[in-house]
Amino acid sequence: MKLLSLLTAATLSVSAAKAQAAPTVDTNVKALMRDKLTAAHGLLDALALEDYKKMEHFASMLQDLSKATTWSKPDSPDFQFYSKSFQNAAAYVVEQAKAHNLEGVTVGYVRVSLECVQCHKFVRSQASKH
Ligand code: HEC
Repeated sequence: MKLLSLLTAATLSVSAAKAQAAPTVDTNVKALMRDKLTAAHGLLDALALEDYKKMEHFASMLQDLSKATTWSKPDSPDFQFYSKSFQNAAAYVVEQAKAHNLEGVTVGYVRVSLECVQCHKFVRSQASKH
């Protein structure tokens, strides 16, 4: 028991140190992006099960996430463009899920996935310039 609490304390202090080293903005981006991944996975799940309620749920989650602006770069028109395209794709999925259009949601899922990849590609290309 004592060893366990020591281990817990050690783990906690390691994660505290890590959390301190990373800038706050980064942590937010990571949390947000992990939620996006969860939503995208959930959407694929719902598609496989043809569960429209679930599709709507995860599509709305993606839409909400696409609107979260804590980490957006207002000074970069390119980044804003990718953000907007992602928002449009997410809105399309919600629309198609509400209409119970299985093909539409599938296309929307592909569109959203493309937007994830496009924006990441852009972000990486910017990072390599510095
Ligand atoms: C408008 C831009 C944009 C869109 C769209 C976008 N991302 Fe990201 N994503 C980012 C940025 C910026 C980062 C942080 C990159 C870095 O580490 O510097 C990131 C990082 C990530 C990471 C890594 C997080 C970590 O723990 O390091 C994941 C996972 C991720 N995104 C998932 C997604 C998924 C899934 C989607 C689509 C449903 C998506 N993203 C759409 C900009 C975007």
